Amino acid sequence: MKAVIPAAGLGTRFLPATKAQPKEMLPVFNKPTIQYVVEEAVASGIDDILIITGKGKRSIEDHFDRSFELEYFLKSCGKDEDLKEIKSISEIDADIYYVRQKKQKGLGDAILCAEKHIDGDPFAVLLGDTITQSDVPCTKQLMDVFGKYQSSTIAIEQVSEGKIERYGIIKGSEITDSVYKIDDMVEKPNIDEAPSNLAITGRYVLVPEIFDYLEKVQPGVGGEIQLTDAMRSMMRSDEGRFHDVYGYLFNGRIYDIGNTVEWLKSSIEIALKDENVKDELTEYLKELLKQRI
Ligand code: UTP
Repeated sequence: MKAVIPAAGLGTRFLPATKAQPKEMLPVFNKPTIQYVVEEAVASGIDDILIITGKGKRSIEDHFDRSFELEYFLKSCGKDEDLKEIKSISEIDADIYYVRQKKQKGLGDAILCAEKHIDGDPFAVLLGDTITQSDVPCTKQLMDVFGKYQSSTIAIEQVSEGKIERYGIIKGSEITDSVYKIDDMVEKPNIDEAPSNLAITGRYVLVPEIFDYLEKVQPGVGGEIQLTDAMRSMMRSDEGRFHDVYGYLFNGRIYDIGNTVEWLKSSIEIALKDENVKDELTEYLKELLKQRI
């Protein structure tokens, strides 16, 4: 299965940090966000990754390319561990391709840019600004559910009332452990119109028929071409069972890096798992909280 990573958005929720650098390159602890995303795809067994980029996103390509000067410098000063780490990024176990989205018309439009590369097979979508943490990679969990139902499967998570207006929200019923059959979905609803508290969270395995619906869908919330709207019209068409969409209540942690508080939480939680910094950081956080309480 191939993966598509949309990373062309403007990142307006994170200005001014994203004025001159891609949101997908913001570091989470010690790595850029998109490196976690690519690593998740590779850990899920995917070896063909298409990143949707756009204006001002060149640093994403540079990050996954070789840097001969840096490698030479690290080698000459005997920094072998750093050298190994730097080389492992450009030698990652997958072919990475790029296509540019010319105008930021929304997530649905970004995915449409992948149609030619995907070439008629089911594919995974991993949002370039969303990180997941779990024992079994989130995309692998979705691929397993897809394997069982042979229909589009998307990751969902329970969100608090305050967060409902930020996400696509599903209406559906649980048919077996953590798997929901989706009846409807709505992008960024008002709290009183939300059909549930189950949010669509940035990981999808989609059937290629989705492209037909993305081509037809009209701009929705925010004037953008919304993937949620295309999935909704695909579900409502009466052209066979492949157009069902399932939700999988993901077993793990998801961070939307485009949101400043979530970004901070992700860095802290991931740093707290690192042997080299966890003790110092824990002490610092304890002290800080003591002063604040
Ligand atoms: P978001 O809606 O969170 O991204 O899209 P955004 O538009 O950059 O963010 P804000 O709301 O202005 O802060 C989720 C993912 O889809 C990509 C983004 O780069 C992000 O990784 N995206 C979004 C595109 O590739 N193209 C678009 O036109 C919109």
